Amino acid sequence: MSATDPKASASFPTGTAEGGARARVSVDTPGGRYEICIGPGLMASAESWSGLPRAADAVIVSNPTVWAIHGQALAAAIAPHHRRVTHVLVPDGEQYKDWASLQRIYDHLLGCGCDRKTLLYALGGGVVGDVAGLAAATYMRGVPFVQVPTTLLAQVDSSVGGKTAINHPLGKNMIGAFYQPARVICDLATLDTLPRRELVAGLAEVVKYGPIYDDTFLGWIEEHLSALLAREPAALLHAVRRSCEIKAAVVGADERESGQRAILNFGHTFGHAIEAGLGFGTWLHGEAVGCGMVLASHLSADLGLVAPAYAERIERLIARAGLPIRAPALPGERWLELMRHDKKAEAGEIRFVLVESPGAAALRPAPDARVLDVIRRLTEGAAPGDPATLYRQ
Ligand code: NAD
Ligand code: GLY
Repeated sequence: MSATDPKASASFPTGTAEGGARARVSVDTPGGRYEICIGPGLMASAESWSGLPRAADAVIVSNPTVWAIHGQALAAAIAPHHRRVTHVLVPDGEQYKDWASLQRIYDHLLGCGCDRKTLLYALGGGVVGDVAGLAAATYMRGVPFVQVPTTLLAQVDSSVGGKTAINHPLGKNMIGAFYQPARVICDLATLDTLPRRELVAGLAEVVKYGPIYDDTFLGWIEEHLSALLAREPAALLHAVRRSCEIKAAVVGADERESGQRAILNFGHTFGHAIEAGLGFGTWLHGEAVGCGMVLASHLSADLGLVAPAYAERIERLIARAGLPIRAPALPGERWLELMRHDKKAEAGEIRFVLVESPGAAALRPAPDARVLDVIRRLTEGAAPGDPATLYRQ
């Protein structure tokens, strides 16, 4: 189990330091123990980088967008700890979470003569984190890496728990490995430069923790949504901290998703189908997950697990966040085909994370007819492939 017990802890952060309040969350898995450090200005703090595995070579993996804004700051901060700091950039976008980007990282590592002690730093959102993590897991059979997530989504979800992957044209995250980072540095100040659409997409993964684990947190998000959208530091700190506490507890109990970890995929069976069905990068991952959670909540209600009012509550929050609540108009057979490729499917049976009661979820099959009925009801009037037209502000 995680060193933190999130079910018992819904407190606000108490630690303060120069630049504002900070928090730490411990992750404890068979694959590694590490700290998630959360706070504004952590990139520039010497403490963030001390005590990491010793390495002559450091390689920062990023993309051109993030590198231009935050790259030099990270390179300067870690320079005292390494003999050489180099960087390699992968193209920006979900469609580049692929073999070519992975190969580019290997080319850089080998081209620079990096040995098996090289420390990788993943600087960016979930795309950079996932592909850099997979490179770290596989280069010379594994080198250590540090996650430096710069999107809300990556700070509350993808940088924590050790899932690394690239996409395949036939499915999302189909090639990957479980490989834990040595540390996660969530510098909240990096969120200041995040485009609003990306901030909103990240909120989907924050909301997720409410239905699956913590109804009190869901209430807190409902109450503080405007503060989160306004990027108020105290609200962001609490959202990132609480999300990481929950993720640490779930992953600590089930690192390799033999059971409980699957709940972190609430909304993802539908969401991954949207992403693959429209082409990776058309909808943002968080947008697809937001809409997927609306579909999964209504499916939970249709199957009698929660009251219809609960599904409407989730839909209202997703809409207030500015996320799409209506699905793109893919043909029914295409939905099923895409969802059968989902990693949670077993022997061709699609399985969904469904809410069983507010704050508790489980993985279950659902009859195709019920699934298609939910999709049909929640597609009406939607323009295919354009989330901007689907927002209800
Ligand atoms: P992303 O990595 O594509 O980043 C979003 C955009 O924001 C990019 O254009 C990026 O360049 C830009 N950006 C990043 N940080 C910025 C900053 N501080 N300022 C300005 N621009 C910035 O998308 P994402 O939403 O972070 O991650 C989505 C990915 O994460 C998906 O591939 C998803 O599958 C994956 N994911 C993985 C896990 C996991 O457990 N490994 C969990 C959830 C999601
Ligand atoms: N984001 C899903 C997981 O980490 O398991």
